[in-house]
Amino acid sequence: MAKLASGRVTKKSSRLLDEFNASLPFDRELCREDIEGSIAHATMLEAQGIITKEEFERIKKGLLQIREEIEKGEFEFNIEDEDIHMAVEKRLTALIGDAGKKLHTARSRNDQVALDFRLYVQKSNQKIINLLVELMEVLLDTASKHTETLLPGMTHLQHAQPINFGYHLLAYASMFKRDVERFESSYQRNNFSPIGCAALAGTPHPIDREKTAKMLGFDAPTINCLDTVSDRDFALEILFNIATMMMHISRLSEELILWSSSEFGFVTLSDEYSTSSSIMPQKKNPDVPELLRGKSGRVYGNLLSLLVVLKGLPLAYNKDMQEDKEGVFDSVKNALISLEILKETIKTMRVNEENMKKAALMGHLTATDLADYLVQKCGMPFRDAYKITGALVVEAEKKGIDLSQMSLKDLKNVDSSIGDDILEFLDLRHSMNARDSFGGTSTKQTQKQIDYFREWLKRR
Ligand code: ARG
Repeated sequence: MAKLASGRVTKKSSRLLDEFNASLPFDRELCREDIEGSIAHATMLEAQGIITKEEFERIKKGLLQIREEIEKGEFEFNIEDEDIHMAVEKRLTALIGDAGKKLHTARSRNDQVALDFRLYVQKSNQKIINLLVELMEVLLDTASKHTETLLPGMTHLQHAQPINFGYHLLAYASMFKRDVERFESSYQRNNFSPIGCAALAGTPHPIDREKTAKMLGFDAPTINCLDTVSDRDFALEILFNIATMMMHISRLSEELILWSSSEFGFVTLSDEYSTSSSIMPQKKNPDVPELLRGKSGRVYGNLLSLLVVLKGLPLAYNKDMQEDKEGVFDSVKNALISLEILKETIKTMRVNEENMKKAALMGHLTATDLADYLVQKCGMPFRDAYKITGALVVEAEKKGIDLSQMSLKDLKNVDSSIGDDILEFLDLRHSMNARDSFGGTSTKQTQKQIDYFREWLKRR
């Protein structure tokens, strides 16, 4: 069959051009959105008296049949059709005859692709939000079991102060909450319909863009057609949002990798989500978090690619823009599977409380508490307290114990004003719970944070 649109260009295109020019191999991904958009457009054309009721019925029936053919894998994708829009339209005309040729009245592929792509991105925003919420729920469930599980909080990857494991997980819940908010706000900002903008300047046909917008779940039609067919901000936003989310996932993954090593032993990943080595039979590898960490690379690349593609383009549509889709499809697919597998990995991992506790007993985590005690209870200037505490740490090191394990007698030797209550201050749990300021690590504050996130999830 001849090409659908061969107006100005009369000679048959070369095979090489077809291959180079086509987006069909990847924009078939948009077939559902394309058909959904076409049905809405045809409905509007009929309501406005631009096509007859009979023509509309035939168009709709034809489009639904095409959707079925695609879903059953019976649709013949032919690279000569260039893209999904042409492929569907050509098949429609083959199926229903002349009525099919009327579908493209008052639209262009420029607003058509802008619509399909935006619908895809909006659906993807929703899917990602749903999975992020599920991930947050798993983090909150795990956190609530560990509001008293001590582990060393770190800076510079060095033991710093005792915190609880729930509190540590809530740091990630905070990040994922902001991610949800970013996807939600992108969804809202971009929920406007491009269809009816035609090539770039609108159309002389008496169309009703309000109607198609409502039918497709948008809040309203976009304001300026020239912008609409050129705009890919919505795609950039989802790429940025995914990049930031994957950066958060990557940081959590890095911790899971560290925590599951023999050196830390804080968690044990379940066999279901671990892999083995092809040569070393004893090995159990954290491939899942490693791959999650690695995937941030490609999603950052996808964001940068599209920014570069768009930066020098004059208005309105330019073929360069066909390069907008593959990166988005790639980022979305990887985001979805990453969220799902991370959730399962966390849900099924074992938390080794004893190892965390043991690690918390290394590094004299309560040294700051001792110095504070000397200032508050003994009235010492902070610098003196700092010095004395340092001397005690050296003493503990010599004995091969943690500061929190020093005997009362040894402590009292240092300064006569030290009372029996010092032992309490050196206790790790006491130290953790003393950090009871808003947003702090005490069990009470951690519980409050869990309640806050749960409430937030319920309200949204
Ligand atoms: N396949 C094209 C794309 O993905 C559709 C729009 C084509 N528009 C045009 N004026 N050539 O961008």
